[in-house]
Amino acid sequence: MTVLGIDIGGSGIKGAPVDVVTGTLGAERFRIDTPKPATPNRIAKAVRQVVDHFAWKGPIGCTIPARVHGGVALTATNIHSTWIDTPVDVLFSDATGCPVRVMNDADAAGVASMQFGAGQGRKGVVILLTVGTGIGTALFIDGTLVPGTELGHLEVLGRNAELYASDRTRKQVSLSWKQWARRFQQYLDTVEFLFAPDLIILGGGISRPSKKEKYIKFLHTKAELVTEILENEAGIVGAAFMAGDLARPAPQERAPRS
Ligand code: BGC
Repeated sequence: MTVLGIDIGGSGIKGAPVDVVTGTLGAERFRIDTPKPATPNRIAKAVRQVVDHFAWKGPIGCTIPARVHGGVALTATNIHSTWIDTPVDVLFSDATGCPVRVMNDADAAGVASMQFGAGQGRKGVVILLTVGTGIGTALFIDGTLVPGTELGHLEVLGRNAELYASDRTRKQVSLSWKQWARRFQQYLDTVEFLFAPDLIILGGGISRPSKKEKYIKFLHTKAELVTEILENEAGIVGAAFMAGDLARPAPQERAPRS
């Protein structure tokens, strides 16, 4: 069963068909730059481009970097303010002619990790942190997602954590990896103090092995600390996985048992 997964980020929109049973991509990832300003209508057009690239006709799972409830975006910290109260699932379904399920990007990455990645089979309290333009979080208790956490906005030394310790901030203020890791360590200390996780998974761009080796030696946690093996594909895979039920026929459409 294949679903098109699309991950909408601050700099790029990436998509690929995903086998939602194995969590593997069925074709090479297609990426386009996120239009600026990233308004709902412009993003909807970009989503349409991804769909056209794969000549896709079928269910779509899509992430956005916002809290989502019932398909509606409720926050817009790193995206255009006009997203707030936008029924994103309806907007993208209208733009593509396909059934669309929308979820928060970090929650999607977390679901992929627990299903196919570093979190597979892990019980207890697991927190996945996606570190990129912002800091996104997905919290799991014995494998069950607590949806919509926004722990990237915890306060660290009186500052919003994602403004203090995201990868974008590292680049913007030209922090060395060691300097950035010092800030990120302060963030991890706060997360550990408040949530006592058993496992912390680092996702997003910083999970690439070439980047990991630059900072991981500076970080120390009580919890086990690992990087996500699905790297930057976790959002695509998780979004597709969560939309998997759109690919199954509704119960009344199923053939009667003989
Ligand atoms: C948003 C989250 C998102 C994270 C990562 C934060 O600014 O509030 O919803 O998951 O960025 O993109």
